[in-house]
Amino acid sequence: MKTTKIVSTGACVPEQIITNDDLAKIVDTSDEWIVQRTGIRQRRISGGENTSVLAIGTARMVLERAQVEPKDVDLIIVASVTPDYGTPSLACMVQKEIGAENAVAFDVVAACSGFMFGLSVADKYIKTGLYRNAIVIGAETLSKIINWEDRATCVLFGDGAGGAYVEASEDSGIMQEDLGSKGELWEILTEGYTSPANAFNDVKPGVAPDYYVNMDGRSVFKFATKMVVKSVNRVLEQAGVTPEEIAFVVPHQANVRIIDVVAHKSGIPREKFYTNMDHYGNTSSASIPMALNELNSKGLIKRGDKVILTGFGGGMTWGTMLITW
Ligand code: UT7
Repeated sequence: MKTTKIVSTGACVPEQIITNDDLAKIVDTSDEWIVQRTGIRQRRISGGENTSVLAIGTARMVLERAQVEPKDVDLIIVASVTPDYGTPSLACMVQKEIGAENAVAFDVVAACSGFMFGLSVADKYIKTGLYRNAIVIGAETLSKIINWEDRATCVLFGDGAGGAYVEASEDSGIMQEDLGSKGELWEILTEGYTSPANAFNDVKPGVAPDYYVNMDGRSVFKFATKMVVKSVNRVLEQAGVTPEEIAFVVPHQANVRIIDVVAHKSGIPREKFYTNMDHYGNTSSASIPMALNELNSKGLIKRGDKVILTGFGGGMTWGTMLITW
């Protein structure tokens, strides 16, 4: 049976590093609180680059590593909640800059689960045979939608992009997936609200505070620990794979405590969970592909390894995949 194989990975982040101590200068917080509650020590924050710059950098890297010509790319999908524009999509901007003139390009929105949703869409196009390959990217400049006066959220997030070049394969690739949405909980995590103000109503056009990330952190924590555990267990069960057979889990890099709970409840040893939120924070849709790229670039994954990618995010949404590398 045809599957979708990850051929190469890549990432691109802003150069500017903001530490917990830097944040303690602008809000009432401390390095100790942030590290204890989240595991985050520093994050990359845009020095002026917008999301498209990070997405384009990632696309160039995955193509170069896969040794594929831009004109041979069939599909480009970018997941983001912080695109440069409402339109064009980030995917179309990437298409232009890398010269992938024959590709179909569009964005998907599923917040921090976005890369998983994008990869799932690409997988279906490839499995049906409509397209042979795809570039899938998660890219965010969350710093532009963060309220830098809100200590409950501004310490959590960072900017960055990560992605993969994938293509049809007969042997290894995406073996099992579980995506889900629970729209009834959408209010616990929102960002980017725009008001319906116009010349014919009296709605105020103001943007703050609804424009920024608004989050009920405890409810998100509860949702994440419950749904990610269920989703990982479901994928293992459906694939007939035991926790011991998993080489690595690449989870959404939101909070190290969420990962501890998921490891404990799924029975997959904690040391198999790859984390890098200590130096990048939570980069939403970019977090899973950035962590996967780090793991891959270090040469830690071997062909044939069973790897789980799993994430959760606004919507609320979640997505898990079991991949034979
Ligand atoms: O991609 C999905 C994105 N979101 C998430 O994954 C978020 C999931 N939730 C979490 O990670 C955690 O809920 C947080 C890290 C956001 C918060 O941790 P918590 O243990 O749930 O803390 P809390 O919200 O219950 O707040 C505890 C205390 C409060 O003070 P009081 O009321 O006990 O006096 C907060 O005001 O910590 C205070 N606090 C802070 N103190 C220092 C909140 N933010 C900060 C801060 N520095 N940055």
